[in-house]
Amino acid sequence: SVKPLFKGKTFVITAGPTKEKIDPVRYFTNRSSGKMGYALAEQAAQMGAEVILVSGTDSLPPPKGVQIVPVESAEDMFHSVMKYASSADVIIKSAAVADYRPKQTFDSKMKKQPGNLIIEMERTKDILFELGQIKKHQFLVGFAAETNDMETYAKDKLVRKNADMIVGNNVSEKGAGFAGDTNIVTIFHKDFSTVSLPLMSKQETAKRILLEISKKWGDDHHS
Ligand code: PMT
Repeated sequence: SVKPLFKGKTFVITAGPTKEKIDPVRYFTNRSSGKMGYALAEQAAQMGAEVILVSGTDSLPPPKGVQIVPVESAEDMFHSVMKYASSADVIIKSAAVADYRPKQTFDSKMKKQPGNLIIEMERTKDILFELGQIKKHQFLVGFAAETNDMETYAKDKLVRKNADMIVGNNVSEKGAGFAGDTNIVTIFHKDFSTVSLPLMSKQETAKRILLEISKKWGDDHHS
């Protein structure tokens, strides 16, 4: 029998949106369903990997054989990812992490006031960037959700965040990006070679992304 591709390898995969609390009944979030990250987790597990799935959603069934680590905020996700990062061989950041959160949060429900409300937002930590700073042997994969100039932004993220691969999706294209069961992605490698995939299911997209990772496995310091 053939040895599964990722046997003995540990993957840390993030999925879904983050939720940034305002008060006990309100939060800021985004349109990510978690489907892309869950598909990657499921396919990686089927290819023999140990998978830790750091998830901002609880509305999808957990893939078989995958360890789920539930998180809410970007700050939670940062801590969970950092906890498992050193034991990972591959880290895939498919989550849609909030870039901003309310600067002030309230322990009791905010009451209506006359007039408009202004909520000041502050930056969250950039998890992908932090991972790029501390990584040793890990193969680091980021996503880029763009509506325009995807190639420019994706290549910029590759360099600035010290990633080994960026998966770009043009989220303004029909059938690509948030919420649906399909995606259209372009994979940007560190050597700036690119692979453009046509519209396909998120499961099939996940498989192809994982195969691209395995192809680059032997390059550099990864073995
Ligand atoms: O969940 P689905 O409904 O299936 O949708 C899939 C998806 C569109 C969410 C997914 O394919 C995708 O593109 N995920 C990344 C979305 C995103 O936040 O992209 P970005 O360009 O804002 O961020 C770039 C990268 O930095 C991402 O890998 C992101 O996880 C990471 N990031 C961003 C902000 C932050 N504070 N920390 C991060 O690590």
